Amino acid sequence: MGLFPPGRCVDLGTGHGSFARQAASLGWSVTGVDARTQRFPEDERVTWLQADIREMDLEEYDVVLCLGLFYHLTIDDQLDLLRRASGRPLIIDTHLDHGSHAHPLSEPVTIGGFKGRMYHEPGHLTSSWGNQESFWPDLPSFHRMLEENDYRALTFEPWLFSDRTFFLALPFARLDDVD
Ligand SMILES: C[S@@+](CC[C@H](N)C(=O)[O-])C[C@H]1O[C@@H](n2cnc3c(N)ncnc32)[C@H](O)[C@@H]1O
Repeated sequence: MGLFPPGRCVDLGTGHGSFARQAASLGWSVTGVDARTQRFPEDERVTWLQADIREMDLEEYDVVLCLGLFYHLTIDDQLDLLRRASGRPLIIDTHLDHGSHAHPLSEPVTIGGFKGRMYHEPGHLTSSWGNQESFWPDLPSFHRMLEENDYRALTFEPWLFSDRTFFLALPFARLDDVD
């Protein structure tokens, strides 16, 4: 977040809201969105919004946060989210199908040319909303999903876990803004 001048950001699938609160501490005007309100903290600096992120218009935000959410979506909803976020920086923290067997994933699948595995959602407070299966793309497919929506992604190294890390996805047109 420190790469950009503070503006308006949206934290999709905010859950406990910790990232939204950190962004507020950095001077951002933050909207924290989740379908479940149980874990919203008391913090008046953040606008807490109960909504399905699949129905949100993202036009008004300068930066989109998608932390711990992408891997809870179907591939159609992932592609739709990237399309709606397109044009503004997007920070994604996600699991991928990256050769780790720490999670119960399906056999490899190919959907619409994208390779990955399916994850069966356990139905927890931190799980998907409305879909029982989500898609974990492999790394090349993940990058291609981003590229097809005019993003180029920088990867946080070393990976946080063997199959999970942060990505800073920048619209092609904004790449020159970053050192
Ligand atoms: C694993 S938690 C991530 C929480 C937090 N962002 C983090 O990184 O620690 C996933 C969150 O996404 C929310 N979520 C999943 N699908 C959603 C949807 N379609 N619309 C809104 N929230 C959703 C869940 O309710 C849950 O709070």
